[in-house]
Amino acid sequence: MSFQFNFSFEDQNISADDPQDDKPSLESKDLETAKEIPSKVTEEILAAEYEVLDVNKAVAIRCLRSKSVEEKLSSLSDDNCIKKTVENHSDLIPNVYEGGLKIWECSVDLVEHLCETRVPLKGLSVLELGCGAGLPGIYALQQQAHHVCFQDFNEEVISHLTIPNVSLNVDSETMSQKCRFLSGGWSQTGSDLIPSERYDIILTAETIYNTESVPSLYKLMRRGLKPGGTIFVAAKTHYFGVGGGTRLFEQYVHNQGDFTVTTCKKITGGVQREILKMNWNAEAR
Ligand SMILES: C[S@@+](CC[C@H](N)C(=O)[O-])C[C@H]1O[C@@H](n2cnc3c(N)ncnc32)[C@H](O)[C@@H]1O
Repeated sequence: MSFQFNFSFEDQNISADDPQDDKPSLESKDLETAKEIPSKVTEEILAAEYEVLDVNKAVAIRCLRSKSVEEKLSSLSDDNCIKKTVENHSDLIPNVYEGGLKIWECSVDLVEHLCETRVPLKGLSVLELGCGAGLPGIYALQQQAHHVCFQDFNEEVISHLTIPNVSLNVDSETMSQKCRFLSGGWSQTGSDLIPSERYDIILTAETIYNTESVPSLYKLMRRGLKPGGTIFVAAKTHYFGVGGGTRLFEQYVHNQGDFTVTTCKKITGGVQREILKMNWNAEAR
């Protein structure tokens, strides 16, 4: 399988085969493991009902209603994973469906934080891991990121939610030239989900609930972040009944020794949530 990238590496002085890059680059077989989903925008998407998410009265993001996407997927004749989820009245079925159809509160926290602290995104390359509805990635596009790669576990989520949401918020040129959509599990694709380009900013929300998948998520972060880049992780301090959370993640990152982690924000109303920021340790880049 071969992939066509819409981004121009020359624009940012990055080469896919940068000889100065001391991290291992990907072999062509690795590209076969990540699935690139074409950003097809149909009349149906354009006519779909959406709601407008108003973040701090400063950011407006249009998104499809999760319920209607779920209903649509469960009515399709093919055997998609969402059917099982709807039948089981479940938010999440481990290794089948990881909750991407719902908007989780930390993704809103993350948009809020990026907006309030005016994190510069203009002209930068951004990767959103475990994107689901894709709010932080869409915000990055609104702030004129150079390009955004959206990744989710489920192809159904990317095709029926992420792509429609992106198309509701940006014009077709931005969609075709600046966006890329990938589906696949972090561990199934190992550390090889990301082709050899790396990103200035990695965003991820509500993805560290399962301690078993943290090592593969971490590998992707390590592989995917440029020198000088920053990662923002928005998550609950503790995921009751699941086990993961920000303290355990922080400890894991600390033990690996590649990044420094700081807590930039704590949100205490309701279940405690946090925004963590990760930067390369000087010696680890
Ligand atoms: C709880 S949802 C959060 C979705 C979205 N970020 C939000 O906050 O609304 C967790 C997301 O992480 C992704 N995810 C979880 N485990 C994964 C894995 N092992 N490999 C790839 N993606 C995974 C799923 O795609 C899912 O969209």
